[in-house]
Amino acid sequence: MPLTLDRHFAADALRQLGVDRSSLDSAVEAAHRRVLDGDTESPEMLGWRTMVEAPDDALIESVAETAAEIRDRADVLLCIGIGGSYLGAEAVMEALVPPFAHDGPEILFAGNQLGPDYHERLFDYLDGKSVYVNVISKSGTTLEPALAFRLARRFLEERFDDADRRIIATTDAAKGTLHDFAVAQGYRRYVVPDDVGGRFSVLTPVGLLPIATAGIDIRTLFYGAVAEAREIDGADASHPALQYAGDRYAFHEAGYKTEVMAVMDPRLKGIGAWWQQLFGESEGKDGKGLFPVVLQYTTDLHSVGQYVQQGQRTLVETFLHLDDADAGLAVKEEPGDPDGLNYLAGKPMGFVNEKAYEGTAEAHAEGGVPNWTLTLSRLDAETLGRLIYFYEHAVAVSGTLLGVDPFHQPGVETYKQQMFSLLGRP
Ligand code: PA5
Repeated sequence: MPLTLDRHFAADALRQLGVDRSSLDSAVEAAHRRVLDGDTESPEMLGWRTMVEAPDDALIESVAETAAEIRDRADVLLCIGIGGSYLGAEAVMEALVPPFAHDGPEILFAGNQLGPDYHERLFDYLDGKSVYVNVISKSGTTLEPALAFRLARRFLEERFDDADRRIIATTDAAKGTLHDFAVAQGYRRYVVPDDVGGRFSVLTPVGLLPIATAGIDIRTLFYGAVAEAREIDGADASHPALQYAGDRYAFHEAGYKTEVMAVMDPRLKGIGAWWQQLFGESEGKDGKGLFPVVLQYTTDLHSVGQYVQQGQRTLVETFLHLDDADAGLAVKEEPGDPDGLNYLAGKPMGFVNEKAYEGTAEAHAEGGVPNWTLTLSRLDAETLGRLIYFYEHAVAVSGTLLGVDPFHQPGVETYKQQMFSLLGRP
């Protein structure tokens, strides 16, 4: 199985809390059915499901062709977007593009924060390179990407005769400042469908164009999600995505506050950041939700690991685990055992990482942190496509169980109003 869930520590903890977990199964199945039937809050925002039910192969092909042109002509693709308009693409690229070496253009991000130093140095760095820009904003009005795009546009127009050809706008089909500007300039455009929220948009052109430009097979990625959706659609409460949704609801109701996603491989940290947004924006409202935090082990075991082991007992934890205990360089035997590591001779790094994971899961469970392990049988485009749909469906069910609307994010507006008033926006 590409994705498997080991929930025995979480199940033990629920038993100790006196929770009869099986009594929740009918509520989980009812929430699942509501998602399948489009009977949720904001039912007009279920496009992340309908798009995998009826894949648009022509769109995937068109995105792949544009990406091929960029790969051919660009040194750098600058992706401008924030939140759901960049986290999914970054996550898939971090997972699948090998570190230290890559072919094709370098992919950089801008407009995902307002750091003045970053943006100044970025354009210095881009000088002299062949640059393409993908500006991504569903609303077309978000300040961070709009500002970065203004800088990028000026940069391109001052350097390239074909500046307009180097800009691809991914935005609403019919409205918004970016849409109107892109139409007026004749930029190439891709659409963020109306019925897909930013954090659910990685499998639309929002994520697919940068991901394809990184050389990743987007058809395989997309069809991984299709395969997962088909399995989940026909499933009952015993499916891992529904077990996970039901367990975390049970812990939420028992007073737990925070869910840690612990990744054992740095390639999965971006998936953690994407998951953090997906769950944080979908559930964190009406005074409800588990606060999602991604940690990278073993790095963070030497940091907040202390808190996880012995701090406030309000944490649950998911290990996002890769089944690769055989991977990596093997430890060589050394004469005299100068560093005392000969006991590991013959073992690959993956084996050591595996034991670190097993030991940590055990230690955290003993220390009062109920945990699950979601294992990926391999790290490739198909498995990531499955994982993306797994979490999208899980958060829809989990938010529905909580009684919140998983598809809006009214809280994000509050900082914008304060900021715009301080900036004197007319
Ligand atoms: O999930 C969401 O909807 C948000 O995180 C948005 O993606 C983010 O606020 C960016 O919005 P936009 O794409 O409209 O610029």
